[in-house]
Amino acid sequence: MRILPFDKSLKMAEDLIKLESGIFGDGNYNSEEIIEVLSDENNKVFLAYDGVIPVGFVSTMKVNTIQYRGIWIDLLGVVEERRGEGIGDSLVKVAFEYAGSVGVDMISALVRETNTPSRRTMISNKFSETTPFRLYLHDITKNGEVR
Ligand SMILES: CC(C)(COP(=O)(O)OP(=O)(O)OC[C@H]1O[C@@H](n2cnc3c(N)ncnc32)[C@H](O)[C@@H]1OP(=O)(O)O)[C@@H](O)C(=O)NCCC(=O)NCCS
Repeated sequence: MRILPFDKSLKMAEDLIKLESGIFGDGNYNSEEIIEVLSDENNKVFLAYDGVIPVGFVSTMKVNTIQYRGIWIDLLGVVEERRGEGIGDSLVKVAFEYAGSVGVDMISALVRETNTPSRRTMISNKFSETTPFRLYLHDITKNGEVR
């Protein structure tokens, strides 16, 4: 198993699209757009490979606010047939190493309450759970508010 940082290649962008759509069933971008989004140094993605086969990924955002400097884990996913082998855990550890290398104060993630595997992955990596919170979302592209 190798975990590699996204290298801005078309091949890795295609691997990432395949992983994201396979695991989460969606994906907003084509390969060129993925490369553009990930050319922002604050967005870092790491992909796990078994040989040449992509098996998981973690995407992170570096945030620097007047409140804190942190790494936000945005997405963490492992292909279904390879779950329970420690790949998710290894990806979180790589995100930790990255956080250590950029000198932030904390690392955070938002996990659905019902998502037991993901919660376990966080807890076994010494994240503490803070409750209760509500996530407020407003899709401003809907209802003719934008565009
Ligand atoms: C969450 C996810 C990334 C975990 O990856 P994984 O490679 O299967 O996890 P690991 O094998 O590294 O296991 C990590 C921990 O979770 C536990 N775990 C894994 N699958 C589990 C399951 N189905 N039920 C309960 N615990 C589970 C493991 O026992 C381990 O805990 P431990 O260290 O206390 O033993 C994976 O389940 C996944 O891709 N889910 C779908 C996508 C998703 O929901 N992502 C999170 C939101 S962005």
